[in-house]
Formats: sequence, structure tokens, C-alpha cells
Amino acid sequence: KVLIVDFGSQVTQLIARRVREEKVYCEIVPFQKAEAAFKEMKPKAVILSGGPASVHEVNAPLAPKAIYDAGVPVLGICYGEQAMAQQLGGKVEGGHHREFGRAEVEVTSDSPLLDGVWEKGQKYPVWMSHGDRVTELPPGFKVLGTSPNAPIAMIGDDKRKFYATQFHLEVVHTPHGASLLRNFVRKIAGLSGDWTMRAFKEEAIEKIRAQVGKGKVICGLSGGVDSAVAAVLIHEAIGDQLTCVFVDHGLLRLAEAQKVVALFRDSYNIPLVHVDDSDVFLKALDGVDDPEQKRKIIGKLFIDVFEKEAKKIGGAEFLAQGTLYPDVIESVSFTGGPSVTIKSHHNVGGLPERMNMKLVEPLRELFKDEVRALGRELGLPEAFVGRHPFPGPGLAIRVPGAITKEKLDILRLADEIYIEEIRRAGLYDDIWQAFAVLLPVKTVGVMGDFRTYDYVVGLRAVTSVDGMTADFYPFDMRFLGNVATRIINEVKGVNRVVYDVTSKPPGTIEWE
Ligand code: XMP
Repeated sequence: KVLIVDFGSQVTQLIARRVREEKVYCEIVPFQKAEAAFKEMKPKAVILSGGPASVHEVNAPLAPKAIYDAGVPVLGICYGEQAMAQQLGGKVEGGHHREFGRAEVEVTSDSPLLDGVWEKGQKYPVWMSHGDRVTELPPGFKVLGTSPNAPIAMIGDDKRKFYATQFHLEVVHTPHGASLLRNFVRKIAGLSGDWTMRAFKEEAIEKIRAQVGKGKVICGLSGGVDSAVAAVLIHEAIGDQLTCVFVDHGLLRLAEAQKVVALFRDSYNIPLVHVDDSDVFLKALDGVDDPEQKRKIIGKLFIDVFEKEAKKIGGAEFLAQGTLYPDVIESVSFTGGPSVTIKSHHNVGGLPERMNMKLVEPLRELFKDEVRALGRELGLPEAFVGRHPFPGPGLAIRVPGAITKEKLDILRLADEIYIEEIRRAGLYDDIWQAFAVLLPVKTVGVMGDFRTYDYVVGLRAVTSVDGMTADFYPFDMRFLGNVATRIINEVKGVNRVVYDVTSKPPGTIEWE
């Protein structure tokens, strides 16, 4: 087991993720609770996260002394390095040279931490984000690496197995960071790596049972992977104490509602209320062309409908949500100050407060690919688990401008053809997300001997790791040509197809 002491970094969960990738169990605890957790958990290694504080502040967060005295390996990252250095007798100063972003570390000494990954005398790219820096080594430590603005960028005491880096080794921008972490967890802490998603599942089930007791839980299904995995997991934990509510807002893809209902009711036997309220949603959206307005209307109506259904079911104390870790970080700002809202993704924000329900969020620590792995572990069909993400407001944000039923029907058919062709070409799993958009303009064309004046369909496909940044997918032109021909031939009302070659940033994945 590894204990991760959280000093409030935005990327602490990434450390956990990297440890899990090494098939080692870990738990994150806020620094205030670290002492008790350390005693109870008896971890084989401890990692101190980064954080926004400075060790010079009054009441600066520090690691419990017991951690350094217990004889277990400790790894400090960023603020964790500074805390460690300060606590063990070194010195930290407010850096006059702050470093943010890419930097290079030159390795100056060998160490088991670097074994097989980084060589003495070589330089490696790393990702930095710090104001303070270590200026004096604590006794027993040596410098392992230096960067121009952090001469003590990486330190180690091989005897006590204490290591620390000023750079963030848990982020992808530090290309060999994961390997260093592997060395720490596997070689230095000697952890064997036999933890699996199955173990995660068992633990999650225990936690759900402990939280819920004999209470009733309601779970909103969206048709997406996250809420489905959450629902199946919770059902495995507490059986029919769970009721799922599937609100069909009429903005789903072709035959999607039927598929979801069939999967849950017939294959899994999970109690499911299917509410078809598409008319109400479409009416509320009538004439609305502003994207944020659309999201607000859908979000609010969704809550209303959901609340009404929950009342009908009655007596539920808990609300289950498939919140993932990226949803959690996207909703906090990166600077601690107010962040700019690009799009308000949190469709059901405010629901738990309003309904006075307690939240059950078993996926809160996981990333998308981990949720997929958990879904497979729970026996969900591959075609379902591997589905591309689909936004809560659905096709409403794929029909820029005002929405009509006619436009939605056109879009559904075009989208279906596009996805079918992607699957047929074996490209579906290489793509993070692919979908069609129906543009609010008509253009002139000629079909047979007639002039046409019809809609334009935009095709979008991107690769991404987490949806935060993305690249357009480089389809073969012939593939795109075939899709265009099929859509124009088969979908009435469309006479032109275009492909979106914008990455994110500066574009976003969705068009609205
Ligand atoms: P953007 O368009 O912001 O999308 O680059 C990033 C990811 O988020 C999804 N998305 C949403 N998901 N409600 C959601 O649940 C929303 O309002 C929303 N807007 C975008 C988008 O599909 C992509 O996966």
C-alpha cells in the first residue's frame, strides 16, 4: 500500500493514477489527516504531493514526523520536496526565478531511483511549477539533478530511501516521470504490483455498502459509460435498493433510448424508470439559439423531471452520480481564484443540494480509461464500455442555432451513417470522439438535373487522452469522400458535408 499525502495540488489524483498503473494500491489523504491515516494504514511507502502553499507561511502544511521516523521510503513532489527538505534540516527560499512549464533537468548523480531510466550526465525534459525552491540540502541527501532555475531539482538519500523532485513527475509533460515513479514503487518500496481493477471493484462495493446501509439510492442514467458503470457497480453492491431513472430528453442518438432500456432492464435486471419527456424539452428549447442558454434550460428541466420521478419512487436518501476525476478538477479553478467558464458542463449541478440527498460517487477517483476497465470487470458489453463520450445536453449542442425536430432527425441519420462507417473501417477505438453536426445554413447543390438548397453536415473526429486537449483525426480523404456520398444520398435535406480540422485549443471538441 502507498499513502499519498495531499497538500492540495491540482494533480494529486494523477499520482494515484500512476501508482495504480503499477498495480499497487494507494490512498490519498489530506495532510491534516495524514498522521491518523499513516498509523492505521501502515503503508509501505509514502508520497508527498505538490500544493499551493509555501513552507514559510504560518501554519504551512507539513508531513507528520512519524512518516520520516518509520523507516518507510518517502517521495516528495514539488511542494512535497520543499516540505521534506525543510523538515529534515535543509533550507527553502522564495525563488526569485519562478519556473512554470517545460524545463530540463541534468542528472548529476546515480541513484536507485533513476536506475534504467535516467543516466548521469544526460538532460531530460520535465514539467515545473514552483515559486519557492530548495537552496540547501538536508543532511544525508545528495543532489541527483539540477535545472537552471532549481539547482536542487532532484534529491535523494539512498540509505533512508527518501527522494524528492521539484518537478512534477506524475504529469505526461514529464515524459519519463512514470518510470521514475515505477522505480520508487517497485524497486525502492519493493511493492509487487498485484493490485487489479477487480480489487478496486471489491473495495468500492464495500465502501458503497458501508455508506448506504439499508438506504435507498437513485441513479440517473444518461446512456453514457460513466453513469452506466456507476449504476451496475452500485447494483452489485446493494441490489434492488437501487432504482435507476433514465430521463429521455429527446436529444439522444438514433435508437439510443431503446438500447439503454434493453441493456439495463433485460440484461441486468436493474429497476429502471424510463421517462420520455422529449416534447417538454423540445418545447422549452423552441427558438433558443444560445449554447449556454440551451445547457441551462436542459439542465434545469432535467432536474425538475428527475426530482419529480424521485418523489414518485419515494424514500431515497442517496443520489448516485458517475462523476469522474476530470469532472472534479474541471470544476475547480487552476489558480485558486475564479476561473473562466468556457462551457458549463455540469448539467446536474445543484441537484443534490436541492433535493437534500447525499451523494454516492464511486468513480470520483477514476479516469475515463479506468472506468472503462471497471466496466469490463463488471461484465458490461465491450461495445458499450468502449463508447465515445456523449455530452449531457446531447444533440442540442450539435445543432448550432435554434433546434427543431426536423433538424434533429436529419442529424441522427447523418451521425448514424458516419459512426457506422467509422466502425466498419475499424477506426472507432482509435478515436476519442466522433460525431456529426448539423449547420444552421443551407447551401446550393445539384442532384440529378435539379438545383438543391439544403443543409450542411459537419463531421468531427478527434483524438485525446482526457478531452482537455485534442487533435483532429487524420482520416484518409477517400474515407471522408465515401461518408459524404453516403450521407448526401441517404439523408434527405443534406447536400453538402465538411470535415472539421481544428484541434483543441483553439477549438473545442463540440461546436457549441
Ligand atoms: P469541449 O467541447 O468542451 O468538450 O471541448 C470536452 C468534452 O466534454 C463534452 N461536453 C459536455 N459534456 N455536458 C457534458 O456532459 C456538456 O454541456 C458538455 N459540453 C461538452 C464533450 O462532448 C467532450 O467530450
